[in-house]
Amino acid sequence: MDPQELAVQEFQSRFGAAPPLIVRAPGRVNLIGEHTDYSDGFVLPMAIDRAIWIALRARDDGRVVAHTLDLDDTTEFALEALKHADGGWSEYLKGVAWSIQQEGYAIGGWEGVLAGNVPIGAGLSSSAALELATARAFAAVSGLPWDPRTMARICQRAETDWVGMRCGIMDQMISAAGEAGHVLLIDCRSLRTKLVPLPPGAVVAVLDTGSRRGLVDSAYNERRAQCEAAARFFGVPALRDVSLAELEARAPELKSHLGEVIHQRARHVVTENIRTLDAAAAMERGDVIALGSLMDASHVSLRDDFEVSGKELNVMASCARRTDGCHGARMTGAGFGGCAVALVKAEATESFSVSVAACYEDATGRPSEITICRPAPGAEVVARSGPSPGMTR
Ligand code: GLA
Repeated sequence: MDPQELAVQEFQSRFGAAPPLIVRAPGRVNLIGEHTDYSDGFVLPMAIDRAIWIALRARDDGRVVAHTLDLDDTTEFALEALKHADGGWSEYLKGVAWSIQQEGYAIGGWEGVLAGNVPIGAGLSSSAALELATARAFAAVSGLPWDPRTMARICQRAETDWVGMRCGIMDQMISAAGEAGHVLLIDCRSLRTKLVPLPPGAVVAVLDTGSRRGLVDSAYNERRAQCEAAARFFGVPALRDVSLAELEARAPELKSHLGEVIHQRARHVVTENIRTLDAAAAMERGDVIALGSLMDASHVSLRDDFEVSGKELNVMASCARRTDGCHGARMTGAGFGGCAVALVKAEATESFSVSVAACYEDATGRPSEITICRPAPGAEVVARSGPSPGMTR
């Protein structure tokens, strides 16, 4: 049964009626533009056909009561007295409730059941999917206008200021603003977006290494601080403002002031921004060969300069690259574990999946999961019965 049906069934058995509202928000895979969003750079993700659904109905007592089928856990809290607890999934719900209220909106409570199929901690943005689904639920019961950019910012603030992960805006933006059949080029400074079609005859394969790393948050925050230090050295708001020529010209000075590691971090961001814009242009021309090589180069830069890959991700990317029908492959998401992404000839999908899985298992002794993902729409109300409430702000 798909997660939407599961959520509906569980809602019915817990609350004794059909849910008047169903919302969903997708996970994402990033084709290129990794660790550039918090330097105000460019990213090229797509929302995937894996998501979190919430079947729900409004409550009029200002409380949220939510049950998640994936973790078999229930949370309950009052909107006017939000308190931090010891981490866990409900912090994302509270964080979104807090952040929407910070924005000046009055919101109502709801009760509902969550179910999803975005693997947790695999680099496919299960947290952004949870945040955006929650925001969609609050917006639907409270009659808030749905502006994807505003909601993405609200959800990002939930994660940075409530949960404590200093993430960029990419995951929330794509989960909010994804479009079926398209990849989105996002300028993470202006939040301007451009829809880019997947090249004809090519599909996106998500290659889950099965590895999950616990230390991602601290390594992530450290990378972000290093990028900020490099931007301060150049006297600019973010590394987005540094050209390759300027980086090269001032490299010796940068290395002597802040060390080789900071230079490498800056080099990754500056070159990755160039690769991402080149990749979007290659997609528009339908040039899969160019796009594939840019993905390969991105992996090398993340592995050697930004140092956020890991053994399993390196093995997976090289297994993919050596297999017939693969145009290019790289790690995707924050890194250290989780998933790689490959661009594959549509007609080679099956043999590609079998060969890559065998190659990866030979090298690591581990099984993997290879899925072809299609670009899906962003957060939405899937079904609603009854009138929508008016807006209060
Ligand atoms: C995580 C963060 C994003 C982005 C990626 C790396 O997914 O949530 O903001 O920084 O890592 O590109």
